[in-house]
Amino acid sequence: MNVSKSTAYLSSGQEREIFSAAAANGLPVLLKGPTGCGKTRFVQAMAQELKRPLFTVACHEDLTAGDLVGRFLLRGGETVWEDGPLTRAVRHGGICYLDEIVEARADTTVVIHPLADHRRELNIERLGESLIAPKEFMLVLSYNPGYQSVLKDLKPSTRQRMVAIELTYPNAAIEEQILMQEADIDNLLAKRLVRLGQAIRGLQNDGLPEGASTRTLIATARLIQSGIDPLLAADACIAAPLSDDPVAAKNLREMARVYLA
Ligand SMILES: Nc1ncnc2c1ncn2[C@@H]1O[C@H](COP(=O)(O)OP(=O)(O)OP(=O)(O)O)[C@@H](O)[C@H]1O
Ligand SMILES: [Mg+2]
Repeated sequence: MNVSKSTAYLSSGQEREIFSAAAANGLPVLLKGPTGCGKTRFVQAMAQELKRPLFTVACHEDLTAGDLVGRFLLRGGETVWEDGPLTRAVRHGGICYLDEIVEARADTTVVIHPLADHRRELNIERLGESLIAPKEFMLVLSYNPGYQSVLKDLKPSTRQRMVAIELTYPNAAIEEQILMQEADIDNLLAKRLVRLGQAIRGLQNDGLPEGASTRTLIATARLIQSGIDPLLAADACIAAPLSDDPVAAKNLREMARVYLA
């Protein structure tokens, strides 16, 4: 298959196989993992591999069930119904990817639950209509356990409807390949950046909410590739974004010096 560069995904484990098996069995998937580890890229790649349209929803705290299912709109003096992304995914037999689902309002579970179990049913209350999802329809939720709080967590009743795939940062050899592929850098620079990333991830109790993601390493690599000094690039893409604390940022800069200078 011709996989375009922008959706190429390199696996670190058995995530492809689990996702494909879940898809074949009509089971929804919960993708867990830190920011920038490849969740979105993975779903894009799987949608392409399975040849299913992808409907992505970036969830936020005001997102309601109505935003997912659809609503009546006034258009040219007429009231017309417009399907939301979840309904479109059901009608088209696509993958509905609800990114950062914990952010969404609690009422979204009312529509998600019947779709995520054996019923595979979407209740469009406002139309008085109920759709049974075709076998190609798949629900994928993503969730970053690092941002978990007591107030914002997925209910056990939602979690236990899902096949969970835990993505972490790729292993060193894979992450080097990703950097070379995404930023056109050579192997030596890729190795150095990956080592830097791993060293930062190894820091404990340093006031950083999360380590340097694959995304930050790619951005650093791209700036270096554009002619920016490596330490300046690491400062702009890693040290400054990761922390506002001057001491933590200074430590990150020191680490960049060790691995990149
Ligand atoms: N396994 C991988 N194969 C190819 N590219 C990858 C992989 N993992 C990460 N990337 C790269 O890292 C970037 C960040 O990944 P992505 O946007 O998928 O992260 P994410 O987990 O969805 O983050 P967030 O939680 O912040 O949305 C992608 O644009 C891609 O370039
Ligand atoms: Mg994402």
